[in-house]
Amino acid sequence: MEDYICVIDSLRGRKIVLGVSGGVAAYKAAALVRALGRMGADVHVVLTEAGARFVAAPTFHALSGNRVWTSLWDGSMENGIPHIALVRGADAILIAPASADIIASLANGLAGDLLSTLCLARDCPLLVAPAMNRQMWENPATQRNAATLREDGVFILGPDKGEQACGETGPGRMLEPEALCEAILAFFTPKLLAGRKVVITAGPTFEAIDPVRGITNSSSGKMGYAIAAACARSGAEVVLVSGPVALPTPAGVRRIDASSALRMRDEVLAALPGADVFIAVAAVADYRPVETAGHKIKKSGAAMQLALVPNPDILAEVAARPDAPFCVGFAAESHDLDMFAEGKRRAKRLPMLVGNLLADGLCGDDNTVVIYDDEGRHPLPRAPKAFVARQIVEHLARLLPAA
Ligand code: C5P
Repeated sequence: MEDYICVIDSLRGRKIVLGVSGGVAAYKAAALVRALGRMGADVHVVLTEAGARFVAAPTFHALSGNRVWTSLWDGSMENGIPHIALVRGADAILIAPASADIIASLANGLAGDLLSTLCLARDCPLLVAPAMNRQMWENPATQRNAATLREDGVFILGPDKGEQACGETGPGRMLEPEALCEAILAFFTPKLLAGRKVVITAGPTFEAIDPVRGITNSSSGKMGYAIAAACARSGAEVVLVSGPVALPTPAGVRRIDASSALRMRDEVLAALPGADVFIAVAAVADYRPVETAGHKIKKSGAAMQLALVPNPDILAEVAARPDAPFCVGFAAESHDLDMFAEGKRRAKRLPMLVGNLLADGLCGDDNTVVIYDDEGRHPLPRAPKAFVARQIVEHLARLLPAA
């Protein structure tokens, strides 16, 4: 959940009505309410009668900080009409879990309870996360209903495949709260990079000395991964060429693992056709051993010499191509950031470079960066990497030539 908690303000001011219908996955809706709340959303839970049999209203009340609504006939709403008052001003309705029953009701325009009635009365987007037994999901009636909802402009999120509460395995699992948060976040993110292809490098490289040893750089990959996630949420097609890191692949991103600088270069060049943007975030090792031993080198106790050759500079090579995409570089410096960062930007002929001082964090969750471009320097406030990534994407989208 780390990344989602970091993007603390990204749903600030959004009113989300969360419908919880009857299904075991209702227990995950509790975590979802908490995660949406942490992202700044104002969550109003509507429980169906069946949903309330799985998780009771006080849980959602405590987690959302808002009253939970269960009945069409609740007279305590200020205008006495909960289905109108609840959707008024809502930015989205999300139903998670969505049972086969509520999906059928929505597809047919039924309004037998509060949740289905307010969906019918809405003028905001509706997102639905199905959760049911595999056979119920695969049943032609449910498939027909889901297709009708899609035609009606409803967004169907999932379902996932996997182990089910009933003991069976197959499609029908509700998406995890993290994936649902990601979908909501992407839904509300302006599509600044729609129709653009972005290639990104991230993480360190590992230059093997022998089968167990190598030269590497200190890099968690968090900044590059956050940028890949931000680009995907902004509507771009994203190829992430990644060195060895312990991070999950962001949603909507095609990840290619490339351990060494040479492999990373090959994968970048292969991914480049059609790319509008290349963002080099990877901490590529400057040198690699001349030779990689095929066997584990035995220690002899004597001093050892390791012959190294320089690695290709992937960013400089891409930026020098006649058909170069818009190139963004990164520079982590220990001192004189302005001088070194701007020097690198000019030397590699980059329209944009993001610099940071090593003291401001290499592997941590926060970063303090300065963006350099032809207009000068643009310092960004210290913030979680996911937030910094979004600002970098916004800056890059402003500089990007029209498609
Ligand atoms: O010259 P320096 O290594 O400091 O430049 C950093 C920038 O160049 C980063 O964007 C990094 O990803 C990229 N780079 C590269 N290939 C290298 C070295 C650096 O793409 N071999």
